[in-house]
Amino acid sequence: MKTRITELFGIQHPIIQGGMHYVGFAELAAAVSNAGGLGIITGLTQKTPELLANEIRRCREMTDKPFGVNLTFLPTVSSPDYPGYIKAIIDGGVKAVETAGNNPVKWLPVLKENGIKVIHKCTSVRHSLKAEAIGCDAVSVDGFECGGHPGEDDVPNFILLPRAAEELKIPFVASGGMADGRSLVAALALGAEGMNMGTRFIATKEAPVHENVKQAIVAASELDTRLVMRPLRNTERVLRNAAVDRLIEKEKTLGANIKFEDIIQEVAGVYPKIMTEGTMDAGAWSCGMVAGLIHDIPTVKELVDRIMAEADTIIRQRLARFNAG
Ligand SMILES: Cc1cc2nc3c(=O)[nH]c(=O)nc-3n(C[C@H](O)[C@H](O)[C@H](O)COP(=O)(O)O)c2cc1C
Repeated sequence: MKTRITELFGIQHPIIQGGMHYVGFAELAAAVSNAGGLGIITGLTQKTPELLANEIRRCREMTDKPFGVNLTFLPTVSSPDYPGYIKAIIDGGVKAVETAGNNPVKWLPVLKENGIKVIHKCTSVRHSLKAEAIGCDAVSVDGFECGGHPGEDDVPNFILLPRAAEELKIPFVASGGMADGRSLVAALALGAEGMNMGTRFIATKEAPVHENVKQAIVAASELDTRLVMRPLRNTERVLRNAAVDRLIEKEKTLGANIKFEDIIQEVAGVYPKIMTEGTMDAGAWSCGMVAGLIHDIPTVKELVDRIMAEADTIIRQRLARFNAG
């Protein structure tokens, strides 16, 4: 399938694997790229630029296809060494960067000078237009359904994607709630040039996370995620568990007076405990509503091939049938 996104990144299928903390290691990124999509290493999961450089090297050993790196710009007190991470990306010959969080304008010139294509993840049309204006090559439009940070506007993809299509000139992919061939065809119908998946890629054989995480996603329904940290204007969609119930109780009790310190136990440093050790109640971890559509743990290649075959059947048979009628 050829779209503006496959052309932009030099990939076979219009499928991107979004950056995921403690999930987006070289193994997953390489598997997605080898299957014809765009795999993404999560930059900040690597604690130093040197470790990111090493992760890029490891990924390069596992695939000769294009892959990218996610750079998440968070409003943290002590800023990570972004110039160091960007140097590792450039020196590592990576040609695609997924930015997320704050406006990436400060870092665009150096990325572009080095021939790197930038796709910025946005949860609103407003921010997507800003990304276009500052020179991003593409946008990943992340609807309210998404795992992770859906922003504060709560606009689901059935509205957000066609609104983005009305306004944007640069290509965009649909992100949030994407799982299968139906998602891809729907995304294309709504104006996107492909799709970005997070949660779906965790439940694959190659995802380098504890088996408990994969089983939790398969067991979950579309009703099992919760929004947390809204009072802090840092809303995150997570899978419900004991820690999340406790966090929500604190939010109810403390109301507008809540501070990050009040919930630190439920959110800080929990990813290694969950993703690596499989301690599922250790804290709040991002998961999309799309868990309700995830029923198995295939290899990445099986998943991508199935998506493309299903998309093809829907377009050629189901949709063509309506057209003929
Ligand atoms: C466990 C997990 C961790 C994530 N970590 C990040 C991250 O560090 N940076 C980022 O930009 N997005 C992160 N995301 C968001 C994904 O890249 C993607 O935008 C999102 O998962 C799409 O929604 P979906 O889960 O419905 O597919 C994360 C998502 C999950 C599920």
